[in-house]
Amino acid sequence: MKKYFISLVVFVIMLCGCTGNKIAKSMNDYREIDIRNLRESAGRLIGEDWTLITAGDSTNFNTMTASWGTLGHLWNRHVAIVFVRPQRYTFEFMENGDYFTLSFFEMEKYRPALQLLGTKSGRDGDKVSEAGLTPLATPYGVSFGEANMIIECKKIYSEFLNPKSFIDTTIIDKVYPQKDFHKMYVGEILGVWRR
Ligand SMILES: Cc1cc2nc3c(=O)[nH]c(=O)nc-3n(C[C@H](O)[C@H](O)[C@H](O)COP(=O)(O)O)c2cc1C
Repeated sequence: MKKYFISLVVFVIMLCGCTGNKIAKSMNDYREIDIRNLRESAGRLIGEDWTLITAGDSTNFNTMTASWGTLGHLWNRHVAIVFVRPQRYTFEFMENGDYFTLSFFEMEKYRPALQLLGTKSGRDGDKVSEAGLTPLATPYGVSFGEANMIIECKKIYSEFLNPKSFIDTTIIDKVYPQKDFHKMYVGEILGVWRR
């Protein structure tokens, strides 16, 4: 009896391990959560663990790694704010579409993939396949089956950072020697999905 019980426990542990690492095949593998229940800080999620900004639709999209941005509350809406330099291929997709997604991953495992997606351009080839990620259609856009959290956003405001508005002007010399100021996108959060 004890032997059967141990086998059962081992089986359940293995099953949990398998499902935890599974690649999501559809949004059915995710459950929608209330943004107000998100316990992680934006500084940790975006700044340390990084995110993928993806814009476009499942027939034509691009993605890039981002570590600058935030999650918060603005104009009585829950928002994500991201910053994209104009030379990024993703910039064209951000400009042409109404929506974008932020995808979050188990970082120990996916940091090399995000490093690749943050150094290669989608202009030069299929970097998503090279990074080993599986595109996944979301209600409003595209994410990846490997993501453990997806935030869907609708663009509600965008503008280039204005060099004249910097109070700490040392940032300009440090971050913008080429004067390629980021465009800021404020996205209203439409859904947060977790698995
Ligand atoms: C950790 C990390 C964080 C990054 N954060 C940003 C960012 O917040 N904004 C940005 O414009 N580029 C950022 N980049 C650079 C883009 O991800 C990179 O230039 C990418 O290759 C652009 O791809 P694309 O041309 O396919 O859009 C980051 C890169 C890395 C590795």
